[in-house]
Amino acid sequence: MKEREGFSSKLGFVLAAAGSAVGLGNIWRFPYLVAKYGGGIFLLVYLILVLTFGYSIMTLEIAIGRKTKQSPIGAYSRFGKKFAWVGLLTVIIPFLISGYYSVIGGWVIKYLVVYFQNLSAAAANSSFFADFTSKPVEPIVYQVLFILVSAFILAAGVKSGVERASKMLMPLLVVLSLFVAVYTITLPGSLEGVKYILIPDFSNFGFETIVGALGQMFYSMSLAMGIMITYGSYLSKKDDIEKNVRNVEIFDTAIAIIATFMIVPAVFAFDKTQLNQGPGLMFITLPKVFAQIPLGTVVGGAFFVLVAFAALTSYISILEVLISSVCDLFKIKRKYAVALCVVASCLLGIPSSLGFGVWSDFTILGYSILDFFDTIANSFLLPIAAFVTCVIFGWLVGLKPIHDEIELSSAFRRKKIFNVIIRYIGPVFLAIIVITNILQIIGIVSI
Ligand code: TRP
Repeated sequence: MKEREGFSSKLGFVLAAAGSAVGLGNIWRFPYLVAKYGGGIFLLVYLILVLTFGYSIMTLEIAIGRKTKQSPIGAYSRFGKKFAWVGLLTVIIPFLISGYYSVIGGWVIKYLVVYFQNLSAAAANSSFFADFTSKPVEPIVYQVLFILVSAFILAAGVKSGVERASKMLMPLLVVLSLFVAVYTITLPGSLEGVKYILIPDFSNFGFETIVGALGQMFYSMSLAMGIMITYGSYLSKKDDIEKNVRNVEIFDTAIAIIATFMIVPAVFAFDKTQLNQGPGLMFITLPKVFAQIPLGTVVGGAFFVLVAFAALTSYISILEVLISSVCDLFKIKRKYAVALCVVASCLLGIPSSLGFGVWSDFTILGYSILDFFDTIANSFLLPIAAFVTCVIFGWLVGLKPIHDEIELSSAFRRKKIFNVIIRYIGPVFLAIIVITNILQIIGIVSI
């Protein structure tokens, strides 16, 4: 077996894993889910899930990766040929996500261009977002642009350069977002929004709060998609796995929460009817905030540049998983795999984009096309992949190899809770979610 390159430092691992984890999931997806699913209660459920489930599954995946030193399909087969399909499943999910991810990436590029053209006043107009996304061609042009930039970065082999740049830009994103968040909170009328985020209202709690928060957790932390296995395979045997997991979690969650404070209170300040807006929330709300900030065009422009970087590094890492798996599976050269994955991801994204315009009447099970892909991947396939992973390691293979791997580098401090989650709570909880979702889709229960 070829010797794998390792990370040069501990911080290198955290930043690479965080670079993949921190993306549109934190800045675009999390705030609109908080707004939609009842504010504080969603945040509370999310935090509990991150600290228990997210922690255990990320630890498990990184340990699997570091132990096998292989990419997902190979890693699962190492524990038994019969598990290879799980590796495959964990690759199909990022493929489904990649399509609509590039659509949102395209929207970010469009807004970036708008701010550079000094058209920020137009963007603050309530109908700007709908006017733009309902056009048949323009959003797809931006989507393709987003994909071409990513493909160029991959093909030119400057990926590590881009990641290095994003490591400098990511802290800037945090600083700028904090600034915007503070500004948002001081807008008249936002206080109600701050309360909405911070004070859990239990009457908003329902089954969908859990399903939504769980899906978001997998999505945002890039779990059950082979990513952390891949990153783990590059981690040195000396590094403390638990500490790394904790750092990635803190980073990922902090950015999601800052983004929420940037967006949700502004919804209350400007137009509360937008609370249920869904995927367009960030694009509708933030331009209104920027319109009020002194030098808002500059702040807005800088913001969208930084978000574009965060989105690019995540999208590139999604493509990486796809490319390396396509190479392994079909035994083709990397450059053909790059071309194949890029084209496939683009074609898959186009219907999601058209779903905001010419195909808006077309819904699947009541979902718009983008929401359909998003729900299938995050609320359905991800819990299935996670369930199977828990069963394989909790029961079939056993947790001993995982404990040994973690204990190579440090004491396993949260071993007890880890065991209980992977063996009992995880499978039961995930099975309930998956079964209820299936029943709901075929229309037997409605929640
Ligand atoms: N976690 C990323 C984000 O928050 C998105 C994402 C989902 C992702 N699946 C992935 C990133 C797979 C890399 C690989 O935006």
